[in-house]
Amino acid sequence: MKNMANLSIHRLMLDAFRSYGEATIETDDRPVVLIGANGAGKTNLLEAISLLAPGRGLRSAPFDEIGHRAPGVGHTNSHPVRWAVSAKVSDTNSEHVLGTGFDIASSGEAKRVVRVDGTPKPGPSALAEHFAVVWLTPALDRLFVDGASARRRFLDRLIYGHDPSHSSRVNAFEKALRDRQKVLESGAADDSWLNSLELTIAENAVAVAAARVQFVAHLTQEIDRPSSDHDLFPRANLSLDGSLEDRLRSEASALEVEDFYIEQLKANRPQDLSAGRALFGPHRTDLAAEHRAKSMPAKACSTGEQKALLISLVLANARLRRARESGVAPILLLDEIAAHLDEERRNALFRAISAMGLQAWMTGTDAALFRGFGDKAQYFLVEPGRIIPSPKPAETW
Ligand SMILES: Nc1ncnc2c1ncn2[C@@H]1O[C@H](COP(=O)(O)OP(=O)(O)OP(=O)(O)O)[C@@H](O)[C@H]1O
Ligand SMILES: [Mg+2]
Repeated sequence: MKNMANLSIHRLMLDAFRSYGEATIETDDRPVVLIGANGAGKTNLLEAISLLAPGRGLRSAPFDEIGHRAPGVGHTNSHPVRWAVSAKVSDTNSEHVLGTGFDIASSGEAKRVVRVDGTPKPGPSALAEHFAVVWLTPALDRLFVDGASARRRFLDRLIYGHDPSHSSRVNAFEKALRDRQKVLESGAADDSWLNSLELTIAENAVAVAAARVQFVAHLTQEIDRPSSDHDLFPRANLSLDGSLEDRLRSEASALEVEDFYIEQLKANRPQDLSAGRALFGPHRTDLAAEHRAKSMPAKACSTGEQKALLISLVLANARLRRARESGVAPILLLDEIAAHLDEERRNALFRAISAMGLQAWMTGTDAALFRGFGDKAQYFLVEPGRIIPSPKPAETW
């Protein structure tokens, strides 16, 4: 059954984006399978889509690395190259053309540009009003093992899809933290400037922490719902480990927590100055996950189990998004997902994607792994610089 409400891309255009000079891909609502050799440009294509949301995309790459370089032209010491991505994106009610890129003014100054339906927007959070994307890449296989910052970013990105203002609050919070650090380091005993920055920090910090608390509670409700997929994609127990989040959960009012954080910031100025960063706050929050059935911390689970837990979270997030009034499920970018799953899990994932009507963009070097999709997906061959529509994988692929 097709769900008309979900987000889908109908045309994606890349201009001077990594290995692509100019490329266009036309798609319908179905999941997209991209097949190509190593280095063909599959992940680049997913990265382009990931940049249609706020943030630095699925490689967290500096924007001056992304512009297309002709073969043989190195990256070091060369000037930044402009690039652009645009996409026609639709859900049931609307269709928009979203664009983003890196533009270089004649003065040589380079900056990110964002357009919605041709109109320039002041910042990338405008994209979050029309677009939501969630990705799983091989790098995220280590999400539960690596440090807290990757998990926090993963959580915040999930929230962007539910609450577009979350991305502008996270940005405002981080910017004010950096500004405070500069004032501290400048040695200027400018109390009123610091007080005003700390107020901005605390207001945004509490809003960010509150959005996380609410989202984790909603996602947990969704995870708790009965679902046949849970044998293969296990349930996770999630918990937020952050001092403001803890206070908000224990029924302190937002204003109380704001006052508490303002006091902490003020008291910690000397320590933060010598540490070179604020030591305390929601920029240090962690998202802990546990394999529920095994009562095992996610980081102690096997590689395949951790992957299955992540998929379970991503599917629960899509269900949650869709269940909300007029909610549309995000686009999924699943880089090399099939290679990591046994056949039973692979087919269960394909079933879940098809049943929810998600436009998942999946890559692989081997088309045979995607046979389970049959006509329920659309297939493309990726060759250096080109994307070619292809028939579904037959037995002989
Ligand atoms: N700025 C750039 N300009 C030109 N080419 C680039 C740029 N950045 C990366 N590339 C090249 O893009 C090519 C394709 O990379 P990509 O990661 O998309 O491949 P892939 O199809 O995902 O391969 P794999 O199967 O190995 O994951 C690489 O050969 C890389 O060197
Ligand atoms: Mg790749």
